Amino acid sequence: MHEPERGAHGSAHAKTILLGEHAVVYGRPAIAFPVRSLTLTAHARAVDGPLRLSTPYHHGSIAAVDDGTAPREEHLAEAALRHTLDALGVAHDGVDVTVTGRIPAARGLGSSAAVASAISVAVARLHGIDLTYEARFELVQFVERIAHGSPSGLDAHATMSPGPIRFESGVARPLVDTWLPPLVIADTGVAGHTAAAVASVRALRTTDKRGVDAAFDAIAALVEGAHTDLRTGDATALGARMNACHSILSDLGVSSPELDTLVDAAHTGGALGAKLTGGGQGGCVIALAPTPADVPALARALTEAGARGVWPVNGGEEEAA
Ligand code: PMV
Repeated sequence: MHEPERGAHGSAHAKTILLGEHAVVYGRPAIAFPVRSLTLTAHARAVDGPLRLSTPYHHGSIAAVDDGTAPREEHLAEAALRHTLDALGVAHDGVDVTVTGRIPAARGLGSSAAVASAISVAVARLHGIDLTYEARFELVQFVERIAHGSPSGLDAHATMSPGPIRFESGVARPLVDTWLPPLVIADTGVAGHTAAAVASVRALRTTDKRGVDAAFDAIAALVEGAHTDLRTGDATALGARMNACHSILSDLGVSSPELDTLVDAAHTGGALGAKLTGGGQGGCVIALAPTPADVPALARALTEAGARGVWPVNGGEEEAA
C-alpha cells in the first residue's frame, strides 16, 4: 500500500542590480530590486524510490542528470536538492521535485540563486521544516559558490527579499518607503559568465589597483546618490547615475557590443538612464522609464532593437503579462 501523497512548495523571484555590481565584490554597496514578473516555484512530493528532478531544462531521475549530458542549470538544481537533504540529515531518495516557471539562466537575473532558493524551501517544508532566513541563505550560497566561485551574497539575498535591498559587506538591509522606479530589463540573448567577468575585473585590478579601486569608489558614490534619489523620487538624477555607472563598467571591460546596443536603444526609446545589470559580458541591461506609463513603449523600443526578452520591474507587469 502506498503512503498518502504529501506535497510542499517554495517560490523565488529573479533580481536585478540597479547599481553596484562588481564593486560590491570589494566591499562597496549595491542596490537590487526583485523582479516579480520572473518567478519560479518548486513543488516537492514524497514518492517511493530514487530522487527525481524536473526543471525547464530536464525531466527525470537524478541518474539521468548524472550522466554528464544535463545542462549546467540542472547540476545547480541537483546540488540544491542534495545539499538541502544533507542539511536536513535525511536520505537522498523518496523525493520528486518539479520546478515550474523559468528565469533565463546566465543573464545576471539570479536564476541559479532563485532555483536553489525555491528547491530548498520546498524540500525542507516537505520534511516539516520552515527554514529560517539564515538557513535558506546558506543553502543558496552553497549553490552560488558552485555557480560563481566566490559570490558576494547579493544574489542570494536579492532573490529571497520581497522588496528592494541595499547590500554591503555581506549585510542586506531592506530599503523601506522608497520610490519604486519604473524599470525595464532587456535581454541581449547572449549568455553572461559572472565568474569570468569577476575574474577579468580581478585581473585588471592586479595590473592597475589604483585605477580599479577608484572606479569602485566612483560606483559606490553613485550607489549613495541613488539611495537618496530613491528617497526623494528623483528620476532624472537616478537616470544620470545609471548612465555614469554603465560607462565605468565599460571601462572595467564588462560591457559588450550587444549590451551597448541595447543601452543606446534605451536612450533612443526615451529612457532616462540605462546600464548593464549583473556580471555583464553578456546578459541584460536595465533601463529607467520616465513614468510607469512609458514602460510599454520603452519595452517595445528595446524589442525592436533586438532584445530577446523584456521584463518590467516596479510597474507595467500587468500590461506585459
Ligand atoms: O549573478 P550576476 O551576474 O547578477 O552577478 C552578480 C554581481 C557581481 O557583483 C558581478 C558578482 C557578485 O558576486 O556580487
